[in-house]
Amino acid sequence: YKVENRELPLKNKKVLITAGPTQEPVDTVRFFTNYSSGKMGYALAEVAKNLGAQVTLVSGPVDLDVLPGVETIKISSADEMFEAVTSRFDEQDIVIKSAAVADYRPKDVHDKKLKKQGHDITVELERTTDILSTLGERKNHQYLVGFAAETDQHLEHGKRKLQKKNLDAIVINDISNPNIGFKSDDNEVNILTKTGQEYAISTRSKKEIAQELLTLIMKDMMGEAK
Ligand code: CTP
Ligand code: CA
Repeated sequence: YKVENRELPLKNKKVLITAGPTQEPVDTVRFFTNYSSGKMGYALAEVAKNLGAQVTLVSGPVDLDVLPGVETIKISSADEMFEAVTSRFDEQDIVIKSAAVADYRPKDVHDKKLKKQGHDITVELERTTDILSTLGERKNHQYLVGFAAETDQHLEHGKRKLQKKNLDAIVINDISNPNIGFKSDDNEVNILTKTGQEYAISTRSKKEIAQELLTLIMKDMMGEAK
């Protein structure tokens, strides 16, 4: 980034970040979800704002404080996140998808609380739309960053997602390690870029990881990364 922009290197840049889990209803009082805390996405939003960006945060239900100076759009289902993100995609410069979006939702959503039966029941699940893949297909000028949550062979799986979803970079979380990720304040990640760079960031706070990731993105966008 330019020397004169060192203070606020993301000034005049629009950054959209997704955070947290989604909730997929079964009936009026129940839903499927996951353990995502939203901490990584909120840390990214805060750091991006402090770097001067105009930040939009599309957030699933989380137990985190609202970030001053960040436009926050609260959604609950994968479908609502899809709408919120795709409708704002065109004008963005950087999009970072750290949300843990449900891959499946109940096929039939009951409009009343389901009554207990005298027998077992089966809930049929259908696929949600992959938001990130949709953005990868639609992108023109945007720098697109995905996350990958993997329990095994995390680098290989991450690399495959980077290519398949047409991303500029991917942040790979090894979620088999119980000390980091999801609910934790700390994280440990590998970052791969489309330009073939690989970074291993050892355990540190999500805020520090957010700082590192945004610095790498800015360098990669400017073609300056070493
Ligand atoms: N993602 C998305 N929309 C979905 C599912 C996932 O945008 N319906 C995004 C996530 O926000 C994340 C990336 O895709 O940035 C990878 O998510 P992950 O769950 O690791 O990968 P999947 O492609 O869903 O594959 P799998 O769960 O089978 O590993
Ligand atoms: Ca998934």
